[in-house]
Formats: sequence, structure tokens, C-alpha cells
Amino acid sequence: MSTIVMSGCATGIGAATRKALEAAGHKIIGIDIRDAEVIADLSTAQGRKQAIADVLLQCSEGMDGAVLCAGLGVQVKPAGKVTSVNYFGAVELLDAFLPELQKGHRPAAVVISSVASAHLAWDRNPLAAAFEAGDEAQAAAIVEGAGDQGGNLAYAGSKNALTVAVRKRVETWGKAGVRLNTVAPGATDTPLLQAGLKDPLYGESIARFVPPLGRRAEPSEIAAVIAFLMSPAASYVHGAQFVIDGGIDALMRPTAF
Ligand code: NAI
Repeated sequence: MSTIVMSGCATGIGAATRKALEAAGHKIIGIDIRDAEVIADLSTAQGRKQAIADVLLQCSEGMDGAVLCAGLGVQVKPAGKVTSVNYFGAVELLDAFLPELQKGHRPAAVVISSVASAHLAWDRNPLAAAFEAGDEAQAAAIVEGAGDQGGNLAYAGSKNALTVAVRKRVETWGKAGVRLNTVAPGATDTPLLQAGLKDPLYGESIARFVPPLGRRAEPSEIAAVIAFLMSPAASYVHGAQFVIDGGIDALMRPTAF
């Protein structure tokens, strides 16, 4: 058995991933705003600090993996909360956990990004400089000043930066012996998606997002890929983004990959 730290394990993809990893015999230490071993709010610097401290206390016997699922959707207001949870709530935890993971057994980590990470190019991501500078207030100010499109920008911009942050860590983490990958789900039937569909501004465009497979994913279908990436079967997979979207990315961008 190994110990895996997870954020966002209370519902949706995180809950399904927790179930899959527990079925594979792993012990999970979950971080969430509810129903978790560590209750913490990842939208604030103080909450993230407390989450990291509590996790390290609970991992006295070591940490072998991390799966960072916590995230907020386009419809959440203020939009700055989306940039805080989706980017800082993942990257700060990753960096804090690396020294512990490095000592773990066959260590690996997976970060949940999104197909939306490719909706914006890094060199045209208006949030790139603020994220790279670790300037949470500036990231929030940019998205909150973007009017109606603030939610879209917060979501796609934070997921784009999250995938970039993982890719930029590939050498450090590789040398430390810890595999690090992202998954990029498309529309998946979770409370986050349901809330987006009900949103008067974004609901219609989310509903139009129908993939070639003709249906949305079940959370368990994303969890299965995460469980594979966390397993020894994925021992040479590092720095990769696994797109799990029923074909929507290939449909929209057939020549870009
Ligand atoms: P969800 O809403 O079911 O799960 C999100 C989890 O994050 C919940 O357990 C929630 O309590 C936790 N969380 C939210 N705010 C938090 C905070 N401030 N502090 C600590 N925990 C917090 O949503 P879902 O869909 O399972 O999302 C999981 C991840 O998958 C997210 O990062 C999301 O962006 C990503 N994703 C989801 C897609 C979808 O269509 N459902 C598509 C692409 C990516």
C-alpha cells in the first residue's frame, strides 16, 4: 500500500479517482472544503498553507503520490476565485509536496488540467505573467476586469498555465525521480459541469460542446486514466498531457497537437 495525497476528492472526478485508487489498495489523504481528511480552502494563501502543514503532519509515514483535482468552473464568481483554486491551489501544493514525494515508493503525481488548457496559447495568455510571478492579486484583478468573459478567461487561462507549470517542472521532477503528468478531460458529468450548464451566460455554449463520441464522460472514465498514470504500468510516462475528451480536441484542432 502507498499513501496518496489528493485535493478535490469530495465530489466528481476526485471522488471517482479516490474510489479507484482505494480499490487498488492505496491509502488516501484527501484535502477539500468538506468530506476529507484535511479540511482547507485552497482559494486563499492561508488555506493552502494550512492544507500543506496538515498533510505533512498526516504523512508521517511518507508520501508516495499526489493527485490534484480541486477546481472551480467558468460560472464561479468572483472569477479571481477560479484562478486562485485552479492555478495556485495546485502549483503551491505540487511544489510543497516534492521533497516528500522524492522519498516515496515509486512516486508519481497527476494534475487535472482541462481541454480548455489548449483554448488559449501561452504566449497570448493574459494571465501568464501574473501566474509566473506568483501574483495572485494581479491574476484576480485581470479576470475580474474582463467583464462577461472573465469566467472563460479565468478558467482557460488558469488551466493553460497549469499545464505549462507542469511541463516546466519536467526536468526538476524527473531528476528527483517523481513522474508528473496532467490529464485534460473534456465535458464530464459532475457537479461542476451541471452548475456550468445552468449558468445563464455560459450554459448554452457548454451544452453545444458535443464530442464525436456523442456523450459526456462519466467521472469513472477520467479516474481510470488517472489510476493508470499513478500505477507502475505508466513507469516511463512523464511530462505528458493525456486528453480524455471523446475526441473534441481532435475535432476542433485537427492539425495542432
Ligand atoms: P467537482 O465540482 O465535482 O469537484 C471539484 C472538487 O474540488 C470538489 O470536491 C470541491 O469541493 C473541491 N473544491 C472546490 N473548491 C475548493 C476549495 N476552495 N478548496 C478545496 N477544495 C475545493 O468538479 P469536477 O468536474 O470533478 O472537477 C475536478 C477537476 O476536473 C477540476 O479541476 C476541473 O476543472 C477539472 N475538469 C472538469 C471537467 C468537467 O467537465 N467536469 C472538464 C475538464 C476539467
